[in-house]
Amino acid sequence: MRSIAMARRPGNPSRRFPDGGSKARSSPFLSIGLVVGALFLIGYSLNGSGGFGGNKEAVSRVEGDFSCTVEVQRAIPILKKAYGDSMHKVLHVGPDTCSVVSTLLKEEETEAWGVEPYDIEDADGNCKSLVHKGLVRVADIKFPLPYRAKSFSLVIVSDALDYLSPKYLNKTLPDLARVSADGLVIFAGYPGQQRAKVAEVSKFGRAAKLRSSSWWIRYFVQTSLEENEAAIKKFEQAATKRSYAPNCQIFHLKSYH
Ligand SMILES: *[C@@H]1O[C@H](CO)[C@@H](O)[C@H](O)[C@H]1NC(C)=O
Repeated sequence: MRSIAMARRPGNPSRRFPDGGSKARSSPFLSIGLVVGALFLIGYSLNGSGGFGGNKEAVSRVEGDFSCTVEVQRAIPILKKAYGDSMHKVLHVGPDTCSVVSTLLKEEETEAWGVEPYDIEDADGNCKSLVHKGLVRVADIKFPLPYRAKSFSLVIVSDALDYLSPKYLNKTLPDLARVSADGLVIFAGYPGQQRAKVAEVSKFGRAAKLRSSSWWIRYFVQTSLEENEAAIKKFEQAATKRSYAPNCQIFHLKSYH
């Protein structure tokens, strides 16, 4: 499956072919076919390995919507238990943020904003309306976020930090902590999930580097970000109670004081 990613054209794989030459007509279908096939195989093999949980997750992988952003939505009830009132003003940062913001806005007493790190040309009407209302912004997270310190009670990031090198992480992660008041929650992929991201390579222009939890924890220590022990404990308790088994690594960090 690695070879599929490698075989893709170097440069910007998401570039469009505006003149619609024959190349443009055939290659999208070919790559969609390969990606669907790859996802099917990944779903099948993960299902067989039984490593990450039940059948429902395996099915969603086969359908190709596997992502930690989807995981954020599954985790919302657990996050509410863990963070309580701190869920009242939430910023989500990550691809498909519109889906998370829409879900959060359905929760009572929750205001939500989103930062979409990549272009949203093919966003649906609902997403465009969130952008129009100023609830969702498109912004490159390698640069400082356009918000004041402690603008949000809670900041949740998914499927975004995996794509940053330590050099950029050193800027982005403290910036995410800066705009949060009560905590920062990070959803990151497991190293074994690397191949499930093949479909997203073109979108990000850089393959995800899925790091182990020991890598992340070492990184947090190095950059003086503290884990939020109280939130970790509450999250774990709520997860156990609801038999919730996350498909992504979830880290709870403190905001700056
Ligand atoms: C990131 O920051 C840490 C802590 O300040 C430092 O030790 C490390 O060298 C930095 N990494 C890069 C790639 O700049």
